Amino acid sequence: MIYIQSERIIIRDLKEKDVDAFYKYRSDKELLKYQNFSTPSLDFAQSFIKEQKSIKIGQKDEWKQLAIALPDDTLIGDCAVQFTPEENRIAELGCTIMKDYHNKGYATAALKLLTTYIFKEFPIHKFKALVDIRNIASQKMLEKSGFQKEGHFIKHYWDENDHDWIDELQYGLLNTVK
Ligand SMILES: CC(C)(COP(=O)(O)OP(=O)(O)OC[C@H]1O[C@@H](n2cnc3c(N)ncnc32)[C@H](O)[C@@H]1OP(=O)(O)O)[C@@H](O)C(=O)NCCC(=O)NCCS
Repeated sequence: MIYIQSERIIIRDLKEKDVDAFYKYRSDKELLKYQNFSTPSLDFAQSFIKEQKSIKIGQKDEWKQLAIALPDDTLIGDCAVQFTPEENRIAELGCTIMKDYHNKGYATAALKLLTTYIFKEFPIHKFKALVDIRNIASQKMLEKSGFQKEGHFIKHYWDENDHDWIDELQYGLLNTVK
């Protein structure tokens, strides 16, 4: 299913044909050094994509992972959204773009389209995003997408790779669409 289409990108469900590209960037340790989502094998990626097809945006306790594709349908990354279990009128999101497509504004475009779509279609009051303080690209992406820095949590999450407690920033975007 296609959720959003613009001149530059499509936001749609992940498809079986995405699996090789998805596995390639989702197992790139350098790219994912500030995220704790891992894709240990191609089989895992295949099952993940299959499972994701039946998950709906806003489904209780589930993250929905959406493909970000070019107009010719080439996968370039993904964004994920969850209506938070503790307050389902607040949604959390994250985004990953393959290295070859970095710094071309794709993530910012995807976040703007996705947040506008969800604010229109669902009773969401606010988006939040948590970011490793060392992740400058992500902070820039969020700020360019209209998010504001709301909080700085000190030594707030455990980085499995670096074996250290790391500061985390919380960003927020209120619903001004409705
Ligand atoms: C975060 C991420 C999705 C951004 O994707 P992107 O498509 O390159 O993002 P955009 O092009 O929309 O914006 C990135 C901005 O960060 C800037 N940037 C990137 N790396 C930077 C760095 N090390 N220092 C300063 N600015 C940096 C870019 O110049 C750009 O800003 P500009 O448009 O003002 O020049 C991408 O870097 C990524 O996939 N990272 C790995 C996954 C991740 O950590 N996701 C964040 C979890 S929410």
